[in-house]
Amino acid sequence: MSTPKRYTITSALPYTNGPIHIGHLAGVYVPADIYSRYLRITGNDVAFICGSDEHGAAIPMRAKKEGVSPQVIIDKYHSIIKRSFKDFGISFDNYSRTSAPIHHETASEFFKKLYEDGKFIEETSEQLYDPEADQFLADRFVIGTCPKCGNEEAYGDQCENCGSSLNATDLISPKSTISGAKPTLKQTKHWFLPLDQYEDFLKEWVLVGHKKDWKTNVYGQIKSWIDDGLRPRAVTRDLDWGIPVPVDGAEGKVLYVWFDAPIGYISSTKEWAVREGKDWEPYWKDKDTKLVHFIGKDNIVFHCIIFPSMLKAEGNYILPENVPANEFLNLEGNKLSTSKNWAVWLHEYLEDFPDKQDVLRYVLTANAPETKDNDFTWKDFQDRNNNELVGNFGNFINRIIVLTNKYYDGIISAPNEFTETDKQTLTELRAYPNVISSSIERYRFREASQELLNVSRLGNKYLADEEPWKLMKTDPERVKTIMYVGLQIAAALATLSEPFLPFTAQKLKNMLSLDTIATTWNEIATKEVLLPAGHTIKKATLLFSKIEDTDIQRQLDKLAATKKANEIENKTVTPQKDTATFEDFTKLDMRIGTIVEAEKMPKTKKLLVLKVDTGINTRTIVSGIAEHFKPEDLIGKKVTVLVNLAPRKLRGVESEGMILMTENPAGKIVFLNPDEDGVHPGAVIS
Ligand code: 2FM
Ligand code: ZN
Repeated sequence: MSTPKRYTITSALPYTNGPIHIGHLAGVYVPADIYSRYLRITGNDVAFICGSDEHGAAIPMRAKKEGVSPQVIIDKYHSIIKRSFKDFGISFDNYSRTSAPIHHETASEFFKKLYEDGKFIEETSEQLYDPEADQFLADRFVIGTCPKCGNEEAYGDQCENCGSSLNATDLISPKSTISGAKPTLKQTKHWFLPLDQYEDFLKEWVLVGHKKDWKTNVYGQIKSWIDDGLRPRAVTRDLDWGIPVPVDGAEGKVLYVWFDAPIGYISSTKEWAVREGKDWEPYWKDKDTKLVHFIGKDNIVFHCIIFPSMLKAEGNYILPENVPANEFLNLEGNKLSTSKNWAVWLHEYLEDFPDKQDVLRYVLTANAPETKDNDFTWKDFQDRNNNELVGNFGNFINRIIVLTNKYYDGIISAPNEFTETDKQTLTELRAYPNVISSSIERYRFREASQELLNVSRLGNKYLADEEPWKLMKTDPERVKTIMYVGLQIAAALATLSEPFLPFTAQKLKNMLSLDTIATTWNEIATKEVLLPAGHTIKKATLLFSKIEDTDIQRQLDKLAATKKANEIENKTVTPQKDTATFEDFTKLDMRIGTIVEAEKMPKTKKLLVLKVDTGINTRTIVSGIAEHFKPEDLIGKKVTVLVNLAPRKLRGVESEGMILMTENPAGKIVFLNPDEDGVHPGAVIS
């Protein structure tokens, strides 16, 4: 553990154009939170900063789709996102938003300073323009083929396939995402940050200065951009949503979202400092402060090239000490996608697993995409919960606390002489704070989480080898020592687990009545006694519980329904059949009927035998819907029946008619009620 310092920890400001999912948590917020909590516990001065990113093209686009104003969108998602962070224990010191006046002021001042210091190039050039929508096209408003990798859906500022940072005019065959129109070129004035002038600085600072301590995935990306040659980058846009460009002659223009968003880290720090009565400046300007940006890999260029060049141009700011960007998390083998709804949304997860925030934090850490893209699977989630959290961590704590209560009414007994095994176990325990620190300080959170589990493994092994439950009858004095050693391990776990499993750590501290005893990481490494003899602990409550196959199946079914819905949405509509004359149509006799009886056809999976009151008579109809409805749920249901269909025998039962139905987007059979269950236009009635 290094000597205490001042830290400014930032995590990417999420766009308020949708809720957040497990990919966000795994890639950015859980590692940033582990790091911040760890630094606080080990005595550092920490400002852990975030906020909502509320400008840029994504917001008005979403607003248009939902038919509301951008303000409605940002308010809605800002509160959903903020809530999710709180629910998952992300311990920001401040969570702001870029629509806040303090941010508008800070970003405008920043721009003005660079403008007045002559750091921008002012240039009128030809930019892409949508003649139908009467709007300039940049960033998300235009897609086209990436000149670097050939991806046909690259955006005007970035290709998400190869990570290249682009100018809209670089795109091959560009297309407006507003109207689909082919853009024309139109002259407009913008302010550019001449990144080419910062090449030497960036080379010296990153390529030489951080060759050894930055992650290879981050370093590699930066090197390749610099090797490709940097070009001036426009930092203003022709848009009506954003921070107005604060200089004369810039009417109708706003700051580029990637110019204002990272300044959001500074304004959020200011907001926090005002609230806490602190001075914000040392957190951004004192050379002894360590600035660390937690981001996903698609944000590397902005945090390692553009923002540092802005900070350098301003002249008074420190530069990031590290940018430990993660790769991407996939879900069950496919890329997480907001638009395809291929995600585990945090607010939905909590509805299904209301007390399992730490389980998700743990699984996302143990399987974090630190060095390569990784896959989240529900099976792995279940296995890690059942084997590692319940079977290892929870099992050890439960055993030691239950036995302490059973043998000694919860009062810790004084130990007798330690055996070699006891001494070795305690020595091993004392090494863990440094082992875990070393992993965290190198941003290896997966490794750190596994070392934490090794602490409870140490406890389980110790109890299994020493078997206090067997010795209780023959050697109760020895049991006192075993329980004492075991309780020291439990106390260490309560403190060491806090950055990873904050809710569990709190529960464990309560159980051990640890709140009255200050146990720091340093004390675990150095002190002989963490829980003294005579200290009283409370009764055991379960820290973790098993996740059943049915819980997992429900999640898999949800994803299967999403997949099916996506397929249906992408499916071409079934072609129209040959023309039917009016006479043909009038031949069909369709009536409303009521199902009065329903039972499964024996020895079949799909068929139900129904009795339907058609108003004419009550007749038997055999229908292939057994996989979609329980017979008892159908009684009394009104349906549309084709009553004059020629009778036919199915498995020996004569069916006299047909019930009309269709399929909803999730692949479920529904009866004809076009307003129900999202029946979509074009669904075949059969
Ligand atoms: O990629 C994103 O979600 C961006 N909203 C991240 C912004 S990070 C920062 F610079 F504000
Ligand atoms: Zn590309």
